[in-house]
Amino acid sequence: MKYDFSFQNATKIYFGKDSLNNLEAELNNYGKNILLAYGGGSIKKNGIYDKVIAILNKCNKNVIECSGILPNPALSKMLEGAKLVRENNVDLILAVGGGSVVDCAKGISVASHYEGDDVFQRYWVDCAPLGDHKLVPVASVLTMVGTGSEMNGGSVISDTVNKIKNGRVFPPIVYPKFSILNPEFTYTVPKYQMVSGVFDIMSHLMEQYFSGDDDNTSDYLIEGIYKNVIRAVKIAIEDPTNYEARSNIMWDATVALNQLVACSKTQDWEVHMIEHQLSAYTDCAHGMGLCAISMPYYRYIYKFGLHKFVRFAKEIWKVDATGKTDEQVALEGIDCMEKFAKECGMVTTLKELGATKEMLPDIANSCILGGGYKEVTHEEILEILKNCYE
Ligand code: NZQ
Ligand code: ZN
Repeated sequence: MKYDFSFQNATKIYFGKDSLNNLEAELNNYGKNILLAYGGGSIKKNGIYDKVIAILNKCNKNVIECSGILPNPALSKMLEGAKLVRENNVDLILAVGGGSVVDCAKGISVASHYEGDDVFQRYWVDCAPLGDHKLVPVASVLTMVGTGSEMNGGSVISDTVNKIKNGRVFPPIVYPKFSILNPEFTYTVPKYQMVSGVFDIMSHLMEQYFSGDDDNTSDYLIEGIYKNVIRAVKIAIEDPTNYEARSNIMWDATVALNQLVACSKTQDWEVHMIEHQLSAYTDCAHGMGLCAISMPYYRYIYKFGLHKFVRFAKEIWKVDATGKTDEQVALEGIDCMEKFAKECGMVTTLKELGATKEMLPDIANSCILGGGYKEVTHEEILEILKNCYE
């Protein structure tokens, strides 16, 4: 553990088949006015909306609805929610949905009592420290897994007018106060979304793993979670209502991005920076964008962190290194990941995600630069994008 770190997680988790039973007691800790934030309607089709409303009614809450929070949540929607919070003196924002709804709920919390019309610029673009304005508590009932938003400070918001999708990791005061994780609520997630969420988990793990050269507990934890998720997703694809598989994937996602495996890691995150701009131009599913970008990105940077890519190939993908050079082993590991992704139905080309060749320079030039083993330039990102176009 080469680098000093601090670790705090502010979210209480209720996990399991009966976890929604805890909502009533939790709601009693908050005032009367609840903003119910949700997406495009899946919770009405699968009955989760009715279950949550019944509990809110039992607690005599005054429910204000903020619906239609779509994937890659838009700044305009976040501001609409913030207005509802102000007008109705909201005491708690209850997000019921996937990462987009939870991220948007955190954004609504930050924006609702901020004075000024530059909240996105200030907190998502300039990443200024939070001011002392009031923050409305957020809680979640999770229905789709992948992002880890249920137990972290992440909030990724899209300014659709200026084509900027920016993520901000807020301090623990913005984390959900509690999150309810019932794996059964994910049974109705379509396969496309489920495997997209799974690649998101894999990507979060890799963004943290591919950095540093020390002997670090975080890397061993990452390998364990990674092996579990690639095993469990195969079962969940065959048998979408397999509780064991779904519950493993759900918890894998949470611990993959709740700061635990980031301890003492410098981290990379450039695949995410590129994906955010890809999403800003195409509105693609986050995990699918990550999948397409990851293969050419890692084939480009592996030589700068060769030892770690060799370990990844051997530990995760069980590549037999006998008689092979380190370069061959490392590349074989990435090949195995690509084969696995294709077998699961994940997307590996930008064309399939709706990108055109003309968009690529704009996407590349608008990415925030960074990197782990290698800092990349806009020109290098363009080459990476061209290598996964079709
Ligand atoms: O909108 P509804 O109708 O609810 O449908 C959603 C949506 O279309 C559907 N869905 C969710 N639960 C369902 C369901 N359909 C059937 N049954 C259910 N139980 O799934 C679709 C995708 O939902 P979304 O919330 O967009 O997916 P995800 O959880 O992957 O969230 C993606 C967003 O999170 C951001 C991404 O950039 C993207 O904007 N991220 C947030 C992070 C964080 N907070 O730390 C980190 C991530 O890296 C990521 O950037
Ligand atoms: Zn992600």
